[in-house]
Amino acid sequence: MATCNGELSGGDYSAEEGPRSRLRFAEASLEQEGDMPEPRMDTARADAFMDQLVTMLNSGALALMTSIGHRTGLFDSMGEMPPSTSEQIAAASGLNERYVREWLGAMVVGGIVEHSPEGKLYWLPLEHASCLTRQSEIENLAVYAQYISVLGGVEDRIIDCFRNGGGVPYSEYNRFHEVMAEDSGQTVIPALIDSILPLVPGLREALEQGIEVLDVGCGRGRAINLLAKTFPNSRFIGYDLSEEAIAAAMAEAETTGARNVAFEAKDLTHFPVEEEFHLITAFDAIHDQARPDTVLSGIAAALRHGGTFLMQDIAGSSHVHNNVEHPIGAFLYTISCMHCMSVSLAQEGAGLGAMWGEEKAQEMLQQAGFSNVEVKSLPHDIQNSYYVASKS
Ligand SMILES: C[S@@+](CC[C@H](N)C(=O)[O-])C[C@H]1O[C@@H](n2cnc3c(N)ncnc32)[C@H](O)[C@@H]1O
Repeated sequence: MATCNGELSGGDYSAEEGPRSRLRFAEASLEQEGDMPEPRMDTARADAFMDQLVTMLNSGALALMTSIGHRTGLFDSMGEMPPSTSEQIAAASGLNERYVREWLGAMVVGGIVEHSPEGKLYWLPLEHASCLTRQSEIENLAVYAQYISVLGGVEDRIIDCFRNGGGVPYSEYNRFHEVMAEDSGQTVIPALIDSILPLVPGLREALEQGIEVLDVGCGRGRAINLLAKTFPNSRFIGYDLSEEAIAAAMAEAETTGARNVAFEAKDLTHFPVEEEFHLITAFDAIHDQARPDTVLSGIAAALRHGGTFLMQDIAGSSHVHNNVEHPIGAFLYTISCMHCMSVSLAQEGAGLGAMWGEEKAQEMLQQAGFSNVEVKSLPHDIQNSYYVASKS
């Protein structure tokens, strides 16, 4: 019998076994082809796969609830509360008790919140709070759960693309820039000065003396604003396609009071940048460009002699078989399919996708004129690789 994924394996088949009987059709069609051995189903494997799918359903549901727990501040409230009733938790969070109680139900059966039926008490264990609250600067995984909801919001549009091609533009994604800024607020901001800059020897000293810096696809500009505040002798500029993201970047610059930073909404497809820079950065911003090739060659052209391009981009291989053990491979391919690839295709672009991988990235950097490329990784950031590239 054929297994669920069509492979052949040993094991017994019983026609009475409900859902599996439909697999007889697959068996019959394979037999008709005449050149395949009789497929047999491994029922233990099918049962294990069924369990895997049930786990997937529960995890998918919990991701939505985790996003809600983050956005409503429930995790933050519970992180600071002793065992409490749903009424107390709702009151502390300023939320409707009936909704909070149902959410707590999902959290308890999902193994996130603990519960005592006596007194109807709920609490978030310290170890769970450390991965789910805003108090944990680097490891708040609830931030990433928001992507599941953001992507769910464009499912109809993506299905239309499956049928008719094309893409979904950035403007269709509700809250994308907000969630992205929270994401890079964890992977980039806390590590920028002490871990990311030291990947480029001498960079910190150069920034202290004063250099020209460009951030490509700066989004809400948090990285460049932090750099501008830290290195007042250097001058910084951030470009991004999104007016909304640039407005948020400018608003943050106002609050820091830094005078050495500017932002501009700009389509970088043909990289119309006249100035020259000592340092160009791109944080998670190359693979979803319409024309990553022209952006990369534009970056190479805009670098001063001896300048550096520091590119943070998704860690992975260009070949799917190398990504089977990737700890967040399914998550990244999903974001790629439902966002990164699609926003590029919506601009009639290359649709490279988030999982373009290190092999393709190296090839494209070489083609753009970067003859020296080093790929580094940082322990806090399993999602990304860091490319330090320069021309000869
Ligand atoms: C994944 S986000 C990363 C944002 C930011 N660097 C961060 O780490 O938070 C990619 C950014 O590239 C920008 N982008 C995409 N296509 C662009 C284009 N053609 N020109 C300029 N920016 C573009 C998007 O608007 C988005 O802000």
